[in-house]
Amino acid sequence: MTTTPRAYRATTPIYYVNARPHLGHAYTTVVADAVCRWHRLLGHETHLLTGTDEHGLKIQRAAEAEGVTPKAFVDGVAPLYAAAWERLSVRVDDFIRTTEPRHAAGVRALLSACHAAGDIESDTYRGHYCVACEAYYLESDLVGGNCPIHARAVEYVEEDNWFFRLSRFEGRLLDWYAAHPDCITPRHRLNEVLGFIRQGLQDFSISRRSLTWGIPLPWDPTQVTYVWFDALTNYLSAVGYGQDQAQYEKWWPVDYHLIGKDIIRFHCVYWPAMLMSADLPLPTRVFGHGFLTKDGQKMGKSLGNILNPVELTGKYGADAVRYYFLKEIEFGRDGDFNETRFVQVLNADLANDLGNLLNRTISMAKKYCQLQVPALDVAAIEPEHPLKALGDALSDRVRLAYENLAFSEVCHLILELVQTGNRYLDQAAPWTRYKEGNTAAVAEILYTVLESVRLGAYWLSPIVPALSTNIYKQLGYSVDFENSLKLQAKVVLESHDRWGTLKPSQALADPTPIFRALELPATDH
Ligand code: MSP
Repeated sequence: MTTTPRAYRATTPIYYVNARPHLGHAYTTVVADAVCRWHRLLGHETHLLTGTDEHGLKIQRAAEAEGVTPKAFVDGVAPLYAAAWERLSVRVDDFIRTTEPRHAAGVRALLSACHAAGDIESDTYRGHYCVACEAYYLESDLVGGNCPIHARAVEYVEEDNWFFRLSRFEGRLLDWYAAHPDCITPRHRLNEVLGFIRQGLQDFSISRRSLTWGIPLPWDPTQVTYVWFDALTNYLSAVGYGQDQAQYEKWWPVDYHLIGKDIIRFHCVYWPAMLMSADLPLPTRVFGHGFLTKDGQKMGKSLGNILNPVELTGKYGADAVRYYFLKEIEFGRDGDFNETRFVQVLNADLANDLGNLLNRTISMAKKYCQLQVPALDVAAIEPEHPLKALGDALSDRVRLAYENLAFSEVCHLILELVQTGNRYLDQAAPWTRYKEGNTAAVAEILYTVLESVRLGAYWLSPIVPALSTNIYKQLGYSVDFENSLKLQAKVVLESHDRWGTLKPSQALADPTPIFRALELPATDH
């Protein structure tokens, strides 16, 4: 029976090009890729959108500081993001740049819809503006006169602008969240958003007269669009809003906006209100994750404590970085990056627990079973066999953990299977059974361990696609988790989700270490 695959779509924020890609940006993007890879495994048609945020005062000033035009500046930086994601094995379906014509068309369409609805009106703005946030602040928001996020001086601005009447949406937003309490995760972020709305919402200016680097308003070309109104619209313009109705209907609303907690208000207050005004469906879910910190401080350009994902990937490989992000940082909470800890975790989990288990078991299969998966009747393995029982029991738990974006739990569940495999192998001592001439026992021991490693590799593939591909190769398969993203390949893989799939007598590849132990850094940085 063929069923139409469900379409699944996730987005990352689009990153400001005044900074080079850093590990904080990489974190959100890797998470989004892992979620999408999981859905591809399930056979869903999947779409991952990321991109770059290229307009606004911040970018204009960064270009001025380098003595180049904004266009030349953004054209120089945007490709660095695309290249970084490729290095991290992120499979991007669409990379949108806000300087593209398709994006301008989407912004004009959304502005016109909100304007036609009567929710954009002219007014005068007087107040404080933080260029780093590209956001206004009330006097009461400031800390010692400075921006509460960047601890830098804000600028006083006075301009006649066009305003979005956000204040009209308080009731509708509260009703929406009451009816869709799962729409924002983790739950405490929903409470933060509700608290913010209940304090009363201020209208916000959606245009700038003093700036030229932006998208002109359709009805007043003397002003350009405020960078956040511009940026949020990327989620629509990328899927053809205002231009390609069929594409738009296929991919909107999005299943998950994955964002950092710093931009939750923009995504959970401004954005839904803009969509409500234009009478468009709201995103299904928003996940506001924590910060990647270095020595307890948010990693970012402003604090000058950034790590370069390309360098780290060059040194340790994409899988290592991906695994550390997803296992060591509980998704939703802040997590510290420490290179010593990084090396220790990878060596313990991937080189030692997983890598050694596979390596020594294949070596025994070479010695005792002519480098083949042992021949036996899989159906005759007792349901109580410790590895079969655990493999069966974990299946639903791994699915649920992925469903909840609980990646750390996914990794722990797989490690439980791997560690149980190691203990079982030690206790079952196939070398002794072999000496005794008990070939049936040897076959069962080696099969059940190899099958557990296979299942673990399958489940881990959204997180460490190259490593999983390698494990599969050693087990005699030609599956490429890293690159074969076409739907058909996923359908073929569907049956791999159960314990007991490994084919008896399948030829194995010669044992070679799948993950070499990493060297501890001389000093942590
Ligand atoms: N351009 C806006 C977003 C517009 S989306 C319509 C922006 N860009 S940003 O480059 O400053 O960063 C955006 C995102 O990068 C954050 O929300 C977060 O997802 C990610 N991160 C940046 N620094 C980070 C950490 N130190 N840790 C984790 N994520 C971080 O805001």
